Amino acid sequence: MKELLDAAIKVREFAVAPYSNFKVGAAVLTSSGKIYSGCNVESVTFTLTSHAEINAISNAIANGEKQIKKLLVVGTNYPPGFPCAICRQYILEHCDQDVEIITANLSGEMRTSTISKLYPEA
Ligand code: THU
Ligand code: ZN
Repeated sequence: MKELLDAAIKVREFAVAPYSNFKVGAAVLTSSGKIYSGCNVESVTFTLTSHAEINAISNAIANGEKQIKKLLVVGTNYPPGFPCAICRQYILEHCDQDVEIITANLSGEMRTSTISKLYPEA
């Protein structure tokens, strides 16, 4: 868990968020034991903005990973906030059904959930 948190905090620094000023970092743990990360990247067009969770998942997929077991996201919400609805759809489609979804903030507060709780009756 510490490794996943460190990876998300580190990648969050690379976030490009000049419009919202809301930097997000995400890291996923795969069945091979590797960690892949991603940050949000905003575009002036707004619609082209990509979310940290989606970039982390896509990074794992692009490296040949087939099973994502854990996803941890770090933002600055108090209390920490879970992935948005768009990200929930992506998690549902591309992570394990029993993926552990963890959210943390920079104060070290953490919350855990599942995709069936966050996206019921999908
Ligand atoms: N954002 C994420 O990266 N993940 C989420 O699940 C929620 C929103 C980003 C998108 C945008 O750059 C900023 O946070 C504000 O919405
Ligand atoms: Zn999102």
